[in-house]
Amino acid sequence: MLILGIETSCDETAAAVVADGRRILSSVVATQFELHAQYGGVVPELAARRHLENILPVIQGALDEAGVSGKEIDGLAVTQGPGLIGALVIGMAVGKALALAWNKPLAGVHHLQAHILAAFLTDNPPAFPFVALVVSGGHTNLYQVHDFQQMDLLGRSRDDAAGEAFDKVAKLLRLGYPGGVIIEQLAAQGNSETFPLPRPRILQEPLTFSFSGLKTAVAHQVAKNPEILTNPSLQADLAASFQEAVVDSLTSRAFLALEETGCQRLVVSGGVAANGRLRQVLQEKAAAAGIELFLPPLSLCTDNAAMVAAAGYHRLQAGDRLDLDADVFSRG
Ligand code: KG4
Ligand code: ZN
Repeated sequence: MLILGIETSCDETAAAVVADGRRILSSVVATQFELHAQYGGVVPELAARRHLENILPVIQGALDEAGVSGKEIDGLAVTQGPGLIGALVIGMAVGKALALAWNKPLAGVHHLQAHILAAFLTDNPPAFPFVALVVSGGHTNLYQVHDFQQMDLLGRSRDDAAGEAFDKVAKLLRLGYPGGVIIEQLAAQGNSETFPLPRPRILQEPLTFSFSGLKTAVAHQVAKNPEILTNPSLQADLAASFQEAVVDSLTSRAFLALEETGCQRLVVSGGVAANGRLRQVLQEKAAAAGIELFLPPLSLCTDNAAMVAAAGYHRLQAGDRLDLDADVFSRG
């Protein structure tokens, strides 16, 4: 069963053709980061307009690369939310129009479920049940995943998402946008033990994340010692100390969730899962604890439409078709 996936929830316009929720025939991603870089973050209005320009060429590219026509696919899947409303409606409108024109079923996909199901697009997919940590620009969520549909939320961030923290700290250190990759590269040259930074915990909610205090602590270090901004070595040390604190917060809770649920498998995905230091610590901890770890390749961790097509396949298999008057949602 061939599904055409469409993703426009944030600043990537993406389309992909996936067979049976498992095999990627094509995956095209048009990123907008250079458009938003000059503003230091995603500007929703500009994102929506760029999606409108890119969406049809990106879809045509995905069909061409897969060697299929619109008539040959069996269904469509579109990200319904969460995300930027103006951006989501572009993908939704195009998905509905193509479903109607080609007379194919349309599935509405939850963006975070799609991030989790990216793990099934690899040669070594996880068995159920497993714990999933989704770490993106907008979310830091821990789930117990029972099957393709049923995912119970175990914990989330009470303030900033992990990716958001990377982006805000990069801005604070005047490093540019998007922050994750820049901080990772800089951190590789720094000493993570130079600056003591907090690992906030909420006593009654051990699986709840919090990153805003960490961001404030970084700002405090910069205020105390403005030389950090002009001294590349200190800048690298602070980037490394920050990255280590985030990695620590993420990995400690993921492994606590494994203990609490008794699950033996861990899936980590979303944009921040592209971080090399996070991947390294996860691998070390998983090996020590005898946990089977599933880390999708980088191109499947950051936003893409192959994961949307995979999630849509399972929705359609479950008989869950989207009505043509369905709306998008920003949160959830
Ligand atoms: O999943 P994603 O592509 O989009 C959302 O759904 O939000 O995640 C984007 C986020 C951004 O905040 C970006 O800074 C972060 O993922 N990110 C990284 C890395 N690559 C992307 N964070 C840390 N290290 C990276 N290598
Ligand atoms: Zn995402």
